[in-house]
Amino acid sequence: MEKIFLLQIALSLLVCFPASAQNIKRSGLFRCGGWNDDFRQLRDLEWNMENLDLGEAECDSIRPNALHSRHRLKRVVLPTVLRIIGSQAFFACDSMESIVLPAGTERIESRAFGNCTGLRTLTSLAETPPMLAEDAFCGTDTRKIRLIVPKGAEKAYKNAPGWQRFFTRKERTIYEQAPEEPAIIPAPTLVTYVGKEFLHTGDLGNIAASPLLANERRRLEEVLTDRLGIKQFSSSKASITLETDSSIGRKEAYRLDISKKGIRITGADAAGVFYGIMTLDQLLIPENENGRIKKLKSLSIEDSPRTTMRELMVDPCRIFIPFDDLKGMVKEMARYKMNAMHLHLTDDQAWRIEIKKYPLLTEKGSFRTGMDDMQMPIGGFYTQEQMKDLVAYASRYHVEIIPEIEMPGHQIAAIHCYPRLTCGAMELPIRTTCGVSDNLLCPGSDFTYEFLEDVFRELADVFTSEYVHLGGDEAGNPPLGCWSGCSDCQTLLKRIMASADTMPQPEARNDNWRLQKYMFDRIIGFLHEELGKIPMFWYETDFHEIQPGCIVFAWRHGLTAKAIDAAIRCNAKIMLCPGEHCYLDYPAAKGDMPEVNWGMPTTSLEQTYSLDPAWGYGADFEKQNLFGVAGTLWSECINSTERLYYMAFPRALALSEAGWSQQHNRDYTGFLTRLRRIAGDMHRRGICTGNIPAVPVTAAKQQP
Ligand code: ACM
Ligand code: ZN
Repeated sequence: MEKIFLLQIALSLLVCFPASAQNIKRSGLFRCGGWNDDFRQLRDLEWNMENLDLGEAECDSIRPNALHSRHRLKRVVLPTVLRIIGSQAFFACDSMESIVLPAGTERIESRAFGNCTGLRTLTSLAETPPMLAEDAFCGTDTRKIRLIVPKGAEKAYKNAPGWQRFFTRKERTIYEQAPEEPAIIPAPTLVTYVGKEFLHTGDLGNIAASPLLANERRRLEEVLTDRLGIKQFSSSKASITLETDSSIGRKEAYRLDISKKGIRITGADAAGVFYGIMTLDQLLIPENENGRIKKLKSLSIEDSPRTTMRELMVDPCRIFIPFDDLKGMVKEMARYKMNAMHLHLTDDQAWRIEIKKYPLLTEKGSFRTGMDDMQMPIGGFYTQEQMKDLVAYASRYHVEIIPEIEMPGHQIAAIHCYPRLTCGAMELPIRTTCGVSDNLLCPGSDFTYEFLEDVFRELADVFTSEYVHLGGDEAGNPPLGCWSGCSDCQTLLKRIMASADTMPQPEARNDNWRLQKYMFDRIIGFLHEELGKIPMFWYETDFHEIQPGCIVFAWRHGLTAKAIDAAIRCNAKIMLCPGEHCYLDYPAAKGDMPEVNWGMPTTSLEQTYSLDPAWGYGADFEKQNLFGVAGTLWSECINSTERLYYMAFPRALALSEAGWSQQHNRDYTGFLTRLRRIAGDMHRRGICTGNIPAVPVTAAKQQP
């Protein structure tokens, strides 16, 4: 990741905070707002905080995201002068059992108490019910919460918008008709309405599918249970038919036909059938809570992907992602027809995958204290059994898991465990700050190749994907510089220079690029020949040449055209992941989370949406070279799973549409309109997202 080093220095100076306390009381002036305000300090630095008393703090609002996903937080006393609780202020503070709203509380915003699943008592001291956003408690079962209001104010609360849910014990079901325009993301290729007939959704429990589609049938049953409450399924008198027909289009293409007699989903392959089911799932999303679609319009959808791979990259190295949470992310991505999760398993800050031959990697390399100014313990790794389980789980949702093992840079954690991996066998501490380390794997040492081959061999038994990512980015600072002082490296370089063409590399800073090429050639050869894998790597201009049979990622701001030119020149496939559109770890707007970061620019939802993966290069490039799109979620500043989701969504939906939908079917206002319904559903299901921008008023008026 590109770093702004002045900010890194500033961040490392901040690494002098006292150990985090369990009980914190704040009184007097309280800084609310600004890049590193008191809420950010409490939320991100006081990782051990369980009890927070702001009763005497001079603070009239708990700002948006103030205490987002602080799972340890049990008890909060709100400021006496409080008026506003901002959006997602307490999102997923799930250890909090009770909270008291002060008398002056005026407004509680969207998802302020979303996923507060432990909440049992809500006491409001306000005589006038505060304005309560409809979704303030999304993902939280309000039937489990006892609401206590001032004597005499019960009626006012019962009648106030949003508060009713605390008085209604009975589950309500509102039957609705499907919306006029279906809200499908990514936008399908073609939707045709066939007549004015409707299908009654109550009759959809009979499914016909060949045994080869048993998995897809199971996914369909999940959808029908979740959306329609259907729990009994049979195969007689089919009301839904699942089938494959490879003649309907490219891999993953599908056709969905709805008539008054039933539903037929035809996929070019099993993945296509699955995507037809995911589209049906979106057609069944109700307008509001507890809604259920009673009738579906007759229609026919033809759909197929524009690109082969729609990927999200997650980074459990900087901050660990619990194993089960990876599964949750896989399932959510799949809804939007994303088909690859790229796991960044190794970096300077941690090694996260069990390698049986090198046990120190996880014994010593998977634990440290601190990520920049956040001084919490960060540990964890995935066993090979867990990863096999993840691969199997993801395949049910047609998502493949692509492991990444970095080389030659971003490997300090491995070097910390096995110093022989770097030049001069230097003993290096594991890195606890963001940024680029100078030390690299040593290309002049045989042990480096033995190690990498052993690792890739073990991983080949775990990850069934034909792809494996080799990193290749940001190799040292200055790039590749550490090899200049290593006699093994320089001996190897002389040998290479003597035996090969020594034409100067147009953009190389020195001849060390030949060592990087040597290392990549050797490992790529091994992966091709011994393991039958297709290597991927982050493109750097120093590479110049892309080895046959590899896939490169264009990621650097402003350098996408150079990467594409190289892919065309070398007849290689390319993933588009340009920072300007695809770095989902950047804040979506100025001041949004992560408020404190290493100097990231912003990537708005609109910027992500505006990615055209053809990048102005035309049909030939698209056909010959374009492989897909990828979004990154580097986690230096993402310290909870909910925040991972916050950064990913809704931008990943914009990215999925860029990767899946035909350019002529895409427009941002239409996307925002569809997103409203889809995001409402995500929120009700407890999925965390960042802000959902409003549909521009002029466009909203034109909607039916
Ligand atoms: C990267 O962001 N270092 C690929
Ligand atoms: Zn060396």
